[in-house]
Amino acid sequence: MLKKVGVTGFFALFMLNAGLMLYFGRETFQVTSNAQQPSHYSYHFVLISEEVDNEYWRLVEKGAEAASRKHNIHLDYWGPKQANNEEQLTFIDKAIASKVDGIMTQGVSSDTFNYLVNKSVQKGIPLITVDTDAPESVRMAYVGSDNYLAGKLAGETMIKQTSGLQKVGIVTGRFDASNQQLRVKGFKDAVSNVSRIQIAGIGESNITKSGAIQATYELLKNHRNITAFYGTSALDGLGISQVASLYQQKKRPFIIAFDTLPETLTLLNKQKIDATVAQYPFVMGERAVETLFSIKKGAYPGSLQYTKTDIMTKLKGSHP
Ligand code: BGC
Repeated sequence: MLKKVGVTGFFALFMLNAGLMLYFGRETFQVTSNAQQPSHYSYHFVLISEEVDNEYWRLVEKGAEAASRKHNIHLDYWGPKQANNEEQLTFIDKAIASKVDGIMTQGVSSDTFNYLVNKSVQKGIPLITVDTDAPESVRMAYVGSDNYLAGKLAGETMIKQTSGLQKVGIVTGRFDASNQQLRVKGFKDAVSNVSRIQIAGIGESNITKSGAIQATYELLKNHRNITAFYGTSALDGLGISQVASLYQQKKRPFIIAFDTLPETLTLLNKQKIDATVAQYPFVMGERAVETLFSIKKGAYPGSLQYTKTDIMTKLKGSHP
């Protein structure tokens, strides 16, 4: 008797469940298919940026997506809304807790970052840095520009393309980002033996155009004799140029920017800026996925995977 009740109960539950499935068929199917999606992929990787909607990082993401498609990898792209080290570190911790198969992240110079990289690698989740290295951590590789050399290139360009005394204002993305520090150091080292080129001051843009505008105003207010600017992150040159365009009565300052976002190239072609250091963010994203993929397959490509950097001018090589 008990057995009969049990079987009937089970049958009733089964029918109820089947009925609900039919009733909510579409939703039920979609939820199931989404939940199962990752298992169709070879690996699940996460890319963590300095700032999620930054145009430059969207190019890194595009490159990473292209390589992920090729290898049937499920790619997530995460990052703080506005550059913020702590939030970025929380995303890394979340990726580790989610047991992803590999992590690509901008490097951060901090003990907490090093601790998280350690934790990731110890849990068998390879982690590599992209765009900015953190060589003091146990990250398995770095894919990105040689930021010190990129800064040197900017300094050498300033030497080649200017004449006479130059008082330089530097607008940098973030004082505590090590790629920015290296770009400033490379620049300073390149001009250190050229007495006519002097650094007047340095301001921080917080990697936004509005921040770069503000930093440029501040620099001009405190150092009225500035004759040249160097912007070390993707939106800095745009902010510098916007302020410089208001100083039409005087000769506009010489401007070296960073990166080749469309607006920067337009300014270059209109001769509103003089040069820009080209990085290859799409290639960085592609190579980062390829590197992580080969690590997963047991191959260990070199730990320093530098991507190219070039100087771009409107009339390449023939600037006065
Ligand atoms: C840097 C990135 C930075 C971006 C900000 C680029 O030049 O390589 O680290 O996030 O500028 O716009």
